[in-house]
Amino acid sequence: MFLKGKRILIGITGGIASYKVYELIRLLIKEGAEVKTVLTPSALNFVSPTVLSTLSGKESYWDWNYRRPLIHIDLAKWCDAFLIAPATVNTISKLACGIADNLLTATWFACHKPKLIAPAANSVMLSDSIICENLKRLKKAGVEIIPSDEGLLACGDVGEGKLANVNLIRDYLVKALTPQRWKGKTVLITLGSTKEYLDPVRFISNSSSGKMGLALAKAIFYQGGEPILVAGDIKVDIPHWFRKFTVDTSEELLKLCLELFPSVDAVFMNAAVTDYRFKETFRGKLKKKEQTLKVELDPTPDILKELGKRKDNQLLVGFAVETENLIENALQKLKRKNLDAIVVNPAEVMGKDRYEGILLTKDGRKEEIKTSTKEEGAFLITKKVAQIFMEDPQWERKYR
Ligand SMILES: Cc1cc2nc3c(=O)[nH]c(=O)nc-3n(C[C@H](O)[C@H](O)[C@H](O)COP(=O)(O)O)c2cc1C
Repeated sequence: MFLKGKRILIGITGGIASYKVYELIRLLIKEGAEVKTVLTPSALNFVSPTVLSTLSGKESYWDWNYRRPLIHIDLAKWCDAFLIAPATVNTISKLACGIADNLLTATWFACHKPKLIAPAANSVMLSDSIICENLKRLKKAGVEIIPSDEGLLACGDVGEGKLANVNLIRDYLVKALTPQRWKGKTVLITLGSTKEYLDPVRFISNSSSGKMGLALAKAIFYQGGEPILVAGDIKVDIPHWFRKFTVDTSEELLKLCLELFPSVDAVFMNAAVTDYRFKETFRGKLKKKEQTLKVELDPTPDILKELGKRKDNQLLVGFAVETENLIENALQKLKRKNLDAIVVNPAEVMGKDRYEGILLTKDGRKEEIKTSTKEEGAFLITKKVAQIFMEDPQWERKYR
Protein backbone atom coordinates (compact mmCIF):
# COMPACT_ATOMS: atom_id res chain seq x y z
CA MET A 1 0.00 0.00 0.00
CA PHE A 2 2.65 2.54 1.05
CA LEU A 3 5.00 2.20 -1.92
CA LYS A 4 2.55 1.17 -4.63
CA GLY A 5 3.31 3.12 -7.81
CA LYS A 6 6.15 5.08 -6.17
CA ARG A 7 9.24 5.63 -8.29
CA ILE A 8 12.43 4.96 -6.38
CA LEU A 9 15.84 5.78 -7.81
CA ILE A 10 18.58 3.79 -6.06
CA GLY A 11 22.13 5.07 -6.32
CA ILE A 12 24.77 2.40 -5.72
CA THR A 13 28.38 3.19 -4.81
CA GLY A 14 31.54 1.07 -4.57
CA GLY A 15 31.05 -0.47 -1.14
CA ILE A 16 31.17 -4.11 -0.18
CA ALA A 17 27.54 -4.00 1.05
CA SER A 18 26.21 -3.14 -2.40
CA TYR A 19 25.20 -6.78 -3.03
CA LYS A 20 22.40 -6.22 -0.47
CA VAL A 21 20.73 -3.88 -2.94
CA TYR A 22 19.55 -6.95 -4.88
CA GLU A 23 17.39 -7.90 -1.89
CA LEU A 24 16.21 -4.32 -1.41
CA ILE A 25 15.06 -4.08 -5.04
CA ARG A 26 13.07 -7.31 -4.70
CA LEU A 27 11.40 -6.00 -1.56
CA LEU A 28 10.43 -2.69 -3.17
CA ILE A 29 9.16 -4.33 -6.38
CA LYS A 30 7.07 -6.75 -4.29
CA GLU A 31 5.40 -3.72 -2.69
CA GLY A 32 4.49 -2.29 -6.07
CA ALA A 33 7.25 0.35 -6.39
CA GLU A 34 9.08 1.11 -9.64
CA VAL A 35 12.85 1.01 -9.27
CA LYS A 36 15.68 2.36 -11.41
CA THR A 37 19.35 2.13 -10.47
CA VAL A 38 22.27 4.46 -11.08
CA LEU A 39 25.84 3.37 -10.28
CA THR A 40 29.17 5.04 -9.72
CA PRO A 41 31.93 3.64 -11.98
CA SER A 42 33.47 2.01 -8.91
CA ALA A 43 30.18 0.22 -8.06
CA LEU A 44 30.61 -1.80 -11.26
CA ASN A 45 33.30 -3.76 -9.39
CA PHE A 46 30.72 -4.85 -6.82
CA VAL A 47 27.35 -5.36 -8.58
CA SER A 48 26.18 -6.28 -12.04
CA PRO A 49 23.95 -3.93 -14.07
CA THR A 50 22.53 -7.05 -15.77
CA VAL A 51 21.30 -8.42 -12.43
CA LEU A 52 20.05 -4.98 -11.35
CA SER A 53 18.06 -4.41 -14.52
CA THR A 54 16.70 -7.97 -14.44
CA LEU A 55 15.48 -7.57 -10.85
CA SER A 56 14.03 -4.10 -11.37
CA GLY A 57 12.73 -4.67 -14.89
CA LYS A 58 14.28 -1.33 -15.81
CA GLU A 59 17.54 -0.18 -17.34
CA SER A 60 20.52 0.33 -15.01
CA TYR A 61 22.63 3.47 -15.56
CA TRP A 62 26.30 3.95 -14.70
CA ASP A 63 28.00 6.34 -17.02
CA TRP A 64 27.34 9.25 -19.26
CA ASN A 65 25.91 8.07 -22.50
CA TYR A 66 26.40 10.88 -24.96
CA ARG A 67 23.51 9.68 -27.09
CA ARG A 68 21.34 10.53 -24.06
CA PRO A 69 23.28 13.44 -22.54
CA LEU A 70 20.50 14.58 -20.25
CA ILE A 71 19.97 11.27 -18.54
CA HIS A 72 20.85 12.77 -15.11
CA ILE A 73 18.03 15.31 -15.53
CA ASP A 74 15.61 12.64 -16.76
CA LEU A 75 16.37 10.33 -13.83
CA ALA A 76 16.03 13.19 -11.33
CA LYS A 77 12.64 14.16 -12.80
CA TRP A 78 11.45 10.54 -13.03
CA CYS A 79 11.86 9.60 -9.38
CA ASP A 80 9.70 10.33 -6.32
CA ALA A 81 12.66 9.67 -4.00
CA PHE A 82 16.41 9.22 -4.50
CA LEU A 83 18.16 6.79 -2.17
CA ILE A 84 21.89 6.02 -2.15
CA ALA A 85 22.55 2.59 -0.65
CA PRO A 86 25.23 1.85 0.20
CA ALA A 87 26.84 5.28 0.31
CA THR A 88 30.65 5.17 0.49
CA VAL A 89 32.57 7.78 2.47
CA ASN A 90 33.94 8.96 -0.88
CA THR A 91 30.50 9.68 -2.35
CA ILE A 92 29.20 11.13 0.96
CA SER A 93 32.07 13.62 0.88
CA LYS A 94 31.53 14.50 -2.76
CA LEU A 95 27.85 15.18 -2.09
CA ALA A 96 28.70 17.34 0.92
CA CYS A 97 31.04 19.43 -1.24
CA GLY A 98 28.94 19.76 -4.38
CA ILE A 99 31.12 17.55 -6.57
CA ALA A 100 29.22 16.16 -9.54
CA ASP A 101 31.87 14.17 -11.41
CA ASN A 102 29.90 11.05 -12.35
CA LEU A 103 26.36 10.16 -13.38
CA LEU A 104 25.23 9.34 -9.83
CA THR A 105 26.54 12.54 -8.22
CA ALA A 106 25.32 14.72 -11.11
CA THR A 107 21.83 13.17 -10.82
CA TRP A 108 21.92 13.88 -7.06
CA PHE A 109 22.37 17.60 -7.58
CA ALA A 110 19.77 17.68 -10.36
CA CYS A 111 17.22 16.13 -8.02
CA HIS A 112 15.01 18.08 -5.65
CA LYS A 113 12.89 15.15 -4.47
CA PRO A 114 13.24 13.57 -1.00
CA LYS A 115 16.83 12.29 -0.74
CA LEU A 116 18.17 9.58 1.55
CA ILE A 117 21.55 7.98 2.07
CA ALA A 118 22.43 4.74 3.82
CA PRO A 119 26.15 4.98 4.72
CA ALA A 120 28.18 1.77 4.97
CA ALA A 121 31.89 1.58 5.71
CA ASN A 122 34.43 0.41 8.23
CA SER A 123 33.62 2.03 11.59
CA VAL A 124 36.92 3.93 11.74
CA MET A 125 36.30 5.41 8.28
CA LEU A 126 32.72 6.33 9.18
CA SER A 127 33.67 7.95 12.50
CA ASP A 128 36.44 10.07 10.97
CA SER A 129 35.78 13.68 11.96
CA ILE A 130 35.75 14.94 8.35
CA ILE A 131 33.22 12.27 7.32
CA CYS A 132 31.07 13.06 10.37
CA GLU A 133 31.13 16.74 9.42
CA ASN A 134 30.13 15.88 5.86
CA LEU A 135 27.23 13.75 7.08
CA LYS A 136 26.09 16.59 9.34
CA ARG A 137 26.23 18.96 6.39
CA LEU A 138 24.05 16.67 4.30
CA LYS A 139 21.60 16.28 7.16
CA LYS A 140 21.40 20.05 7.53
CA ALA A 141 20.61 20.26 3.81
CA GLY A 142 17.57 18.04 4.39
CA VAL A 143 19.02 14.65 3.44
CA GLU A 144 17.70 11.75 5.54
CA ILE A 145 20.64 9.73 6.89
CA ILE A 146 19.62 6.12 7.53
CA PRO A 147 21.65 4.96 10.55
CA SER A 148 24.07 2.15 9.83
CA ASP A 149 23.93 -1.06 11.87
CA GLU A 150 26.36 -2.50 14.38
CA GLY A 151 27.90 -5.94 13.96
CA LEU A 152 30.59 -7.91 12.21
CA LEU A 153 31.90 -5.87 9.28
CA ALA A 154 33.24 -7.31 6.01
CA CYS A 155 36.80 -6.35 7.08
CA GLY A 156 36.49 -8.57 10.19
CA ASP A 157 36.14 -5.67 12.65
CA VAL A 158 33.11 -5.49 14.90
CA GLY A 159 31.41 -2.12 15.20
CA GLU A 160 29.09 0.35 13.56
CA GLY A 161 29.12 0.72 9.81
CA LYS A 162 27.09 -2.17 8.40
CA LEU A 163 24.54 -1.16 5.81
CA ALA A 164 21.15 -0.74 7.54
CA ASN A 165 18.80 -3.70 7.34
CA VAL A 166 16.84 -3.61 4.05
CA ASN A 167 13.54 -3.49 5.97
CA LEU A 168 14.70 -0.37 7.79
CA ILE A 169 15.75 1.21 4.48
CA ARG A 170 12.27 0.38 3.14
CA ASP A 171 10.67 1.97 6.24
CA TYR A 172 12.72 5.14 5.73
CA LEU A 173 11.60 5.28 2.08
CA VAL A 174 7.96 5.06 3.18
CA LYS A 175 8.66 7.83 5.70
CA ALA A 176 10.25 10.01 3.00
CA LEU A 177 7.12 9.69 0.86
CA THR A 178 4.54 10.23 3.61
CA PRO A 179 3.26 13.57 5.01
CA GLN A 180 4.99 14.16 8.38
CA ARG A 181 1.90 14.65 10.53
CA TRP A 182 3.57 13.37 13.72
CA LYS A 183 6.90 15.15 13.21
CA GLY A 184 8.63 15.94 16.50
CA LYS A 185 6.08 14.01 18.57
CA THR A 186 6.98 11.20 20.94
CA VAL A 187 4.27 8.56 21.11
CA LEU A 188 3.89 5.82 23.69
CA ILE A 189 2.31 2.67 22.27
CA THR A 190 1.45 -0.32 24.45
CA LEU A 191 0.91 -3.70 22.82
CA GLY A 192 0.40 -7.41 23.43
CA SER A 193 -1.10 -9.08 26.49
CA THR A 194 -0.22 -8.97 30.18
CA LYS A 195 0.06 -12.06 32.40
CA GLU A 196 -1.28 -12.51 35.92
CA TYR A 197 0.41 -15.27 37.89
CA LEU A 198 -1.13 -17.89 40.16
CA ASP A 199 2.28 -19.36 40.94
CA PRO A 200 5.73 -19.04 39.30
CA VAL A 201 4.73 -21.15 36.27
CA ARG A 202 0.95 -20.62 35.85
CA PHE A 203 -0.84 -17.50 34.74
CA ILE A 204 -3.96 -16.10 33.08
CA SER A 205 -3.63 -13.97 29.98
CA ASN A 206 -5.28 -13.42 26.58
CA SER A 207 -4.43 -14.03 22.93
CA SER A 208 -3.48 -10.50 21.85
CA SER A 209 -0.66 -10.77 19.29
CA GLY A 210 0.70 -7.20 19.32
CA LYS A 211 0.25 -6.98 15.53
CA MET A 212 -1.94 -3.88 15.68
CA GLY A 213 0.38 -2.18 18.21
CA LEU A 214 3.39 -2.75 15.96
CA ALA A 215 1.40 -1.43 12.98
CA LEU A 216 0.58 1.71 15.01
CA ALA A 217 4.27 2.18 15.87
CA LYS A 218 5.25 1.89 12.22
CA ALA A 219 2.50 4.31 11.18
CA ILE A 220 3.79 6.88 13.69
CA PHE A 221 7.36 6.38 12.41
CA TYR A 222 6.27 6.80 8.77
CA GLN A 223 4.61 10.08 9.72
CA GLY A 224 7.74 11.46 11.39
CA GLY A 225 7.01 10.66 15.05
CA GLU A 226 9.13 8.74 17.51
CA PRO A 227 7.30 5.67 18.82
CA ILE A 228 8.18 4.17 22.20
CA LEU A 229 6.84 0.65 22.53
CA VAL A 230 5.91 -1.04 25.78
CA ALA A 231 5.21 -4.67 24.99
CA GLY A 232 3.68 -7.42 27.05
CA ASP A 233 3.55 -10.91 25.57
CA ILE A 234 3.59 -10.59 21.77
CA LYS A 235 3.72 -12.84 18.73
CA VAL A 236 5.42 -10.36 16.40
CA ASP A 237 9.06 -9.31 16.11
CA ILE A 238 9.70 -5.69 16.99
CA PRO A 239 12.47 -4.35 14.73
CA HIS A 240 15.57 -3.57 16.78
CA TRP A 241 15.59 0.07 15.66
CA PHE A 242 12.44 0.84 17.66
CA ARG A 243 12.83 1.99 21.27
CA LYS A 244 11.14 -0.70 23.27
CA PHE A 245 10.49 -1.91 26.83
CA THR A 246 9.03 -5.26 27.83
CA VAL A 247 6.72 -6.01 30.72
CA ASP A 248 5.06 -9.12 32.11
CA THR A 249 2.17 -8.11 34.41
CA SER A 250 -0.38 -5.28 34.40
CA GLU A 251 1.33 -3.84 37.51
CA GLU A 252 4.63 -3.57 35.59
CA LEU A 253 2.83 -2.03 32.62
CA LEU A 254 1.19 0.57 34.87
CA LYS A 255 4.53 1.46 36.51
CA LEU A 256 6.29 1.94 33.18
CA CYS A 257 3.42 3.90 31.61
CA LEU A 258 3.35 6.28 34.60
CA GLU A 259 7.11 6.73 34.32
CA LEU A 260 7.05 7.47 30.58
CA PHE A 261 3.80 9.46 30.48
CA PRO A 262 5.17 12.94 31.42
CA SER A 263 7.69 12.86 28.56
CA VAL A 264 5.38 11.84 25.69
CA ASP A 265 2.97 13.77 23.47
CA ALA A 266 0.45 11.00 22.91
CA VAL A 267 -0.46 7.50 24.05
CA PHE A 268 -2.07 4.72 22.03
CA MET A 269 -3.10 2.17 24.64
CA ASN A 270 -3.34 -0.90 22.47
CA ALA A 271 -2.20 -3.57 24.95
CA ALA A 272 -4.83 -6.10 25.99
CA VAL A 273 -4.44 -5.77 29.75
CA THR A 274 -5.73 -8.83 31.60
CA ASP A 275 -8.77 -7.58 33.53
CA TYR A 276 -8.34 -9.75 36.63
CA ARG A 277 -5.47 -11.07 38.74
CA PHE A 278 -5.30 -13.68 41.48
CA LYS A 279 -6.10 -12.40 44.94
CA GLU A 280 -3.50 -14.79 46.30
CA THR A 281 -0.36 -15.85 44.46
CA PHE A 282 1.85 -18.76 45.52
CA ARG A 283 5.60 -18.42 45.82
CA GLY A 284 6.24 -22.09 45.01
CA LYS A 285 4.68 -24.24 42.27
CA LEU A 286 1.19 -25.27 43.35
CA LYS A 287 0.85 -29.06 43.74
CA LYS A 288 -2.06 -30.79 41.98
CA LYS A 289 -4.65 -32.18 44.43
CA GLU A 290 -7.86 -34.21 44.10
CA GLN A 291 -10.12 -31.42 45.44
CA THR A 292 -11.50 -28.47 43.46
CA LEU A 293 -9.17 -25.49 43.61
CA LYS A 294 -11.02 -22.30 44.39
CA VAL A 295 -9.32 -19.04 43.58
CA GLU A 296 -10.50 -15.46 43.88
CA LEU A 297 -9.79 -12.78 41.31
CA ASP A 298 -9.38 -9.06 41.84
CA PRO A 299 -9.57 -6.41 39.11
CA THR A 300 -6.19 -5.28 37.76
CA PRO A 301 -5.30 -1.56 37.84
CA ASP A 302 -7.08 0.57 35.22
CA ILE A 303 -4.01 1.97 33.45
CA LEU A 304 -5.89 4.24 31.06
CA LYS A 305 -7.91 5.73 33.89
CA GLU A 306 -4.73 6.43 35.85
CA LEU A 307 -3.20 8.16 32.82
CA GLY A 308 -6.48 10.03 32.26
CA LYS A 309 -6.25 11.44 35.80
CA ARG A 310 -2.69 12.64 35.23
CA LYS A 311 -3.26 13.98 31.69
CA ASP A 312 -1.61 17.29 31.04
CA ASN A 313 -1.09 18.04 27.34
CA GLN A 314 -0.93 14.46 26.15
CA LEU A 315 -3.41 13.01 23.68
CA LEU A 316 -4.86 9.84 25.11
CA VAL A 317 -6.27 7.24 22.73
CA GLY A 318 -7.82 4.02 24.02
CA PHE A 319 -8.84 0.82 22.25
CA ALA A 320 -11.79 -1.37 23.11
CA VAL A 321 -13.18 -4.65 21.85
CA GLU A 322 -16.95 -4.93 22.24
CA THR A 323 -19.49 -7.59 21.33
CA GLU A 324 -22.62 -5.43 21.67
CA ASN A 325 -23.63 -1.75 21.84
CA LEU A 326 -20.20 -0.89 20.45
CA ILE A 327 -20.55 2.86 20.28
CA GLU A 328 -22.49 3.32 23.51
CA ASN A 329 -20.05 1.21 25.55
CA ALA A 330 -17.00 2.82 23.97
CA LEU A 331 -18.29 6.34 24.62
CA GLN A 332 -18.89 5.51 28.27
CA LYS A 333 -15.32 4.27 28.52
CA LEU A 334 -14.02 7.41 26.80
CA LYS A 335 -15.78 9.62 29.34
CA ARG A 336 -14.98 7.51 32.41
CA LYS A 337 -11.28 7.42 31.61
CA ASN A 338 -10.93 11.02 30.40
CA LEU A 339 -9.73 9.99 26.91
CA ASP A 340 -9.47 12.19 23.82
CA ALA A 341 -10.45 9.37 21.48
CA ILE A 342 -11.26 5.70 21.52
CA VAL A 343 -11.16 3.08 18.78
CA VAL A 344 -13.73 0.35 19.16
CA ASN A 345 -13.33 -2.95 17.36
CA PRO A 346 -16.01 -5.61 16.89
CA ALA A 347 -14.85 -8.91 18.42
CA GLU A 348 -15.19 -10.72 15.04
CA VAL A 349 -12.05 -9.11 13.62
CA MET A 350 -9.84 -10.44 16.44
CA GLY A 351 -7.05 -12.56 15.00
CA LYS A 352 -8.04 -11.69 11.39
CA ASP A 353 -5.84 -9.88 8.92
CA ARG A 354 -8.52 -7.40 7.84
CA TYR A 355 -9.23 -4.45 10.08
CA GLU A 356 -12.47 -2.89 11.17
CA GLY A 357 -12.93 -0.21 13.81
CA ILE A 358 -14.73 3.00 14.68
CA LEU A 359 -12.78 6.03 15.89
CA LEU A 360 -14.82 8.11 18.33
CA THR A 361 -13.62 11.44 19.69
CA LYS A 362 -14.61 13.32 22.78
CA ASP A 363 -16.35 16.03 20.75
CA GLY A 364 -18.63 13.46 19.15
CA ARG A 365 -16.89 12.72 15.86
CA LYS A 366 -17.28 9.26 14.42
CA GLU A 367 -15.02 7.80 11.72
CA GLU A 368 -15.51 4.25 10.43
CA ILE A 369 -12.34 2.50 9.34
CA LYS A 370 -12.44 -0.64 7.22
CA THR A 371 -9.24 -1.83 5.59
CA SER A 372 -7.89 -5.09 4.25
CA THR A 373 -4.84 -5.07 6.56
CA LYS A 374 -4.01 -3.96 10.11
CA GLU A 375 -1.13 -1.84 8.70
CA GLU A 376 -3.59 0.23 6.67
CA GLY A 377 -6.01 0.41 9.61
CA ALA A 378 -3.27 1.65 11.95
CA PHE A 379 -2.12 4.21 9.39
CA LEU A 380 -5.64 5.60 8.94
CA ILE A 381 -6.23 5.79 12.71
CA THR A 382 -3.00 7.70 13.35
CA LYS A 383 -3.60 9.93 10.32
CA LYS A 384 -7.13 10.82 11.42
CA VAL A 385 -6.09 11.41 15.04
CA ALA A 386 -3.37 13.80 13.82
CA GLN A 387 -5.78 15.57 11.46
CA ILE A 388 -8.49 15.96 14.10
CA PHE A 389 -6.33 16.93 17.05
CA MET A 390 -3.14 18.45 15.74
CA GLU A 391 -3.87 20.03 12.38
CA ASP A 392 -6.97 21.82 13.58
CA PRO A 393 -5.95 25.31 14.78
CA GLN A 394 -9.07 25.39 16.97
CA TRP A 395 -8.02 22.21 18.78
CA GLU A 396 -6.84 23.85 21.99
CA ARG A 397 -10.05 25.88 22.35
CA LYS A 398 -12.39 23.08 21.38
CA TYR A 399 -10.91 20.17 23.27
CA ARG A 400 -8.97 21.37 26.28
C1 LIG B 1 36.78 -4.61 -1.59
C2 LIG B 1 36.49 -3.17 -1.31
C3 LIG B 1 35.49 -2.85 -0.45
C4 LIG B 1 35.21 -1.51 -0.15
N1 LIG B 1 34.19 -1.23 0.71
C5 LIG B 1 33.92 0.05 1.02
C6 LIG B 1 32.86 0.37 1.91
O1 LIG B 1 32.15 -0.51 2.42
N2 LIG B 1 32.65 1.68 2.19
C7 LIG B 1 33.40 2.68 1.66
O2 LIG B 1 33.15 3.84 1.98
N3 LIG B 1 34.36 2.41 0.79
C8 LIG B 1 34.66 1.13 0.44
N4 LIG B 1 35.67 0.84 -0.42
C9 LIG B 1 36.42 1.93 -1.02
C10 LIG B 1 35.67 2.53 -2.22
O3 LIG B 1 35.44 1.53 -3.18
C11 LIG B 1 36.47 3.68 -2.82
O4 LIG B 1 36.57 4.73 -1.89
C12 LIG B 1 35.89 4.16 -4.11
O5 LIG B 1 36.67 5.24 -4.60
C13 LIG B 1 34.45 4.60 -3.95
O6 LIG B 1 33.98 5.18 -5.12
P1 LIG B 1 32.49 5.70 -5.26
O7 LIG B 1 32.14 6.41 -4.02
O8 LIG B 1 32.51 6.61 -6.44
O9 LIG B 1 31.63 4.52 -5.52
C14 LIG B 1 35.97 -0.48 -0.74
C15 LIG B 1 36.97 -0.83 -1.63
C16 LIG B 1 37.26 -2.14 -1.91
C17 LIG B 1 38.34 -2.47 -2.90
